[in-house]
Amino acid sequence: MAKDKIIDELITFINDSPTSWHAVEHVKTKLIEAGFQELKEEESWSIAFGGKYFVIRNGSSIVAFQTPTDEPTHLKIVASHTDSPSFKLKSNPEYLVENMLMLGVEVYGSPLLTSWLNRDLKIAGRVFYLDKHNKKQSSLVALDDFPVVIPQLAIHLDRKANENGPLLKHQEHLAAVAALDVKTPYLEKILKAELNAKTLLSFDLFLVPTEKASLIGYEKQMIASYRIDSLLSVHACLKALLNVKKPSLKKLKAFVFFDHEEVGSTSTQGANSPFLSQTLERIFLSLHFGKEDYFKMIANSLLISVDLAHAMHPNYKEKHEPHHQPLLNKGIVIKQNANLRYASNGYSTAHIVELCQKNKIPYQFFVSRNDMPCGSTIGPLNASQTGIETIDIGVAQLSMHSCRELAATQDQLDMCQLLTKFLNT
Ligand code: CO
Repeated sequence: MAKDKIIDELITFINDSPTSWHAVEHVKTKLIEAGFQELKEEESWSIAFGGKYFVIRNGSSIVAFQTPTDEPTHLKIVASHTDSPSFKLKSNPEYLVENMLMLGVEVYGSPLLTSWLNRDLKIAGRVFYLDKHNKKQSSLVALDDFPVVIPQLAIHLDRKANENGPLLKHQEHLAAVAALDVKTPYLEKILKAELNAKTLLSFDLFLVPTEKASLIGYEKQMIASYRIDSLLSVHACLKALLNVKKPSLKKLKAFVFFDHEEVGSTSTQGANSPFLSQTLERIFLSLHFGKEDYFKMIANSLLISVDLAHAMHPNYKEKHEPHHQPLLNKGIVIKQNANLRYASNGYSTAHIVELCQKNKIPYQFFVSRNDMPCGSTIGPLNASQTGIETIDIGVAQLSMHSCRELAATQDQLDMCQLLTKFLNT
């Protein structure tokens, strides 16, 4: 596929996916177009050899797989996460300050707070409600026609804002201005009209930037957007599995995308849940193989956990380990940490280095400074939940966890190629 087309697809995916639920919905559509069949966790499974399936948990995590034509003895799987840092609306979000309608939020994960100020934000997520016939429904929403804003205090009222950074107290300073001189409940009225609902029951709604993804820089070598972390990874993993054209004799090929990475992954559908191992066990049960066969396969498995990596910041070079400074446009990043904040070890790294060298895919290493705490990702949690050998890699980016992140498009193309080669060899 032409490079431009892959990046166009990526941009469409990002613009369509303001929340983890929207991302999984987009992935589901692509899988169905490619002939994958949906399995429901609450039903019995009837899985065939050489078949393509997917299963979704709670709307925001998904496993898709292609079974081999004979007993699965090896598993090749790529993984990432569907959520990003943002602001979640509280259950009673609306209140008035004089004539201003405010929306109260909780902070979800660790957003770079200043990047969210003074920006057009919209409300997106999932709503449960009773329809006109009193039937319980759930729908995804993205209220494009109702932008809101978290206004920053003017420099004249906060003279030290540029030297010390603005002081942003989570409870007091992050509510959004949504409307002027209106009656409450206002948001409730808008949601009901949008959904044709009789009664709202509950919601998982977030404030997300309205600005669309765009290509920037000379010759448009970079992509700027919200949710680069980790929709770039989800996109590359999805493409890799869709590029598996025919089933293998013995290898089970799969991807898993977990929700809740940004808040610690401990939930029914996070990387610290049994979602993946339960799904793999059920594949074995349905194909009439035993636990012994399942454990044999687990010992013959490799999972590539794909999440974004810190590129060297040109204005803060000293923040990075002097001899491990990944650069934009210089290839995929292999992430390592002696204290296992990343799951990579010599064994799993050797697989990726060999694959990169064989296919002439550029790669670089990330190790954080010894005096700088290291981030983490789904790799270590998934490894400890499933016992599957795991490596953590990613595309390098700047401005991680801001609402406008930056990465290089060539790195994304390299990631697509690497994961495709991994699942096809
Ligand atoms: Co991430």
